[in-house]
Amino acid sequence: MYLTREEEKMLKGEMGYAKQVAMEILLALGEIYGAEKMVLIKSAQISGVSYMNLGEAGVEWLEELSTDGKVEVYTTLNPAGMDIERWREMSISREFAEKQIRITNAYTKMGIHLTLTCTPYLAGNKPSLGDHIAWAESSAVVYANSVIGARTNREGGPSALASALTGRTPYYGLHITENRAYSLRINVPNLRDEYDFALLGYISGKLCKGRIPMFSRVESANQVELKALGAALASTGGIAMFHVEGLTPEYMLPPQDRVEEIDIEEGDLKNAAEELNDNVEPDLIFIGCPHASLEELIMVMQRLRDRIVKKEMWICVSRSIKGLAEELGIYQKLERLGVKIVCDTCPIVAPISSLGVKSIATNSAKGVWYSRNLNKVKVKIARLTDLIEEAVR
Ligand code: F3S
Repeated sequence: MYLTREEEKMLKGEMGYAKQVAMEILLALGEIYGAEKMVLIKSAQISGVSYMNLGEAGVEWLEELSTDGKVEVYTTLNPAGMDIERWREMSISREFAEKQIRITNAYTKMGIHLTLTCTPYLAGNKPSLGDHIAWAESSAVVYANSVIGARTNREGGPSALASALTGRTPYYGLHITENRAYSLRINVPNLRDEYDFALLGYISGKLCKGRIPMFSRVESANQVELKALGAALASTGGIAMFHVEGLTPEYMLPPQDRVEEIDIEEGDLKNAAEELNDNVEPDLIFIGCPHASLEELIMVMQRLRDRIVKKEMWICVSRSIKGLAEELGIYQKLERLGVKIVCDTCPIVAPISSLGVKSIATNSAKGVWYSRNLNKVKVKIARLTDLIEEAVR
């Protein structure tokens, strides 16, 4: 693999320990995937922040890198295992909180912004069409590639951090234009809202088998809907990019040589909803997977119609969306009605089973998928309107 003089210096340790480790990681990755060279990146998004996922070894590794590591590009962070300010209200143990704070301190020392969100594009890290970036967090990766038209592979926490520390990533996969073309056309039924888009993503992910899909016959789609579609697609199919005909920035790219065509019917959406429903009474109703936008907070407020929430209900957001909501009085109103606006985390990366949560309800197919398969809690997927009616009952 070709390395510039600066990259060679990093590899030899002439620019410090952290950059040397980072360049070793990137070189190994580039060689595995047959990259010819590195490409400079505009930003990084790092996953692997919750102590629940990192454990003691992860904390120590980050602290070691932070002794001389400094990031070269604008870098943001995925959610942690707790709300950094309200962890006591979440019944998080002091021991967990202390470990979590060691992790965020190490990242801060490296110059990384504590955005603690899976929607960096709603929190100031918004690349432009054609920018090379190195993002971890599957839902953010698929959104960046598909909706923004920036270019990133599905990085893991260590490779995204390595890219942040060096300002580079190996040039392969979705950084190359030809690899961004679709080879599966999916004709979709009428889609009403983000719930339908999430179900569509859930079904399609299973059908894609690694292929980039082109969704056809979508009349319109807003940011919330595309966010839900991509997150589900990335969860069930590991997909990092999709196109929507007539809507997303690169839908005009010529397709791959062979294109398969599949129809998804309304009945398939209903079947998917049944599959994602354990018919439980939820301990926690949760909105914001991926983290909610201001628009979603407004949707909840409008549907609540001043009624008090009687069940535990969280909306997970980034701190910047919370700030905007505070300025507009939306935050205060929702909290007055009994909704908890939770920042920096979500019920998937926080230790919710130790908080006594055994079942959750959400409108997110990704949220349901991981809650069931990773956290082993019972799940229920429902439209936002139905979740709210359940919350006020
Ligand atoms: Fe974000 Fe947690 Fe969902 S990190 S995408 S809210 S699983």
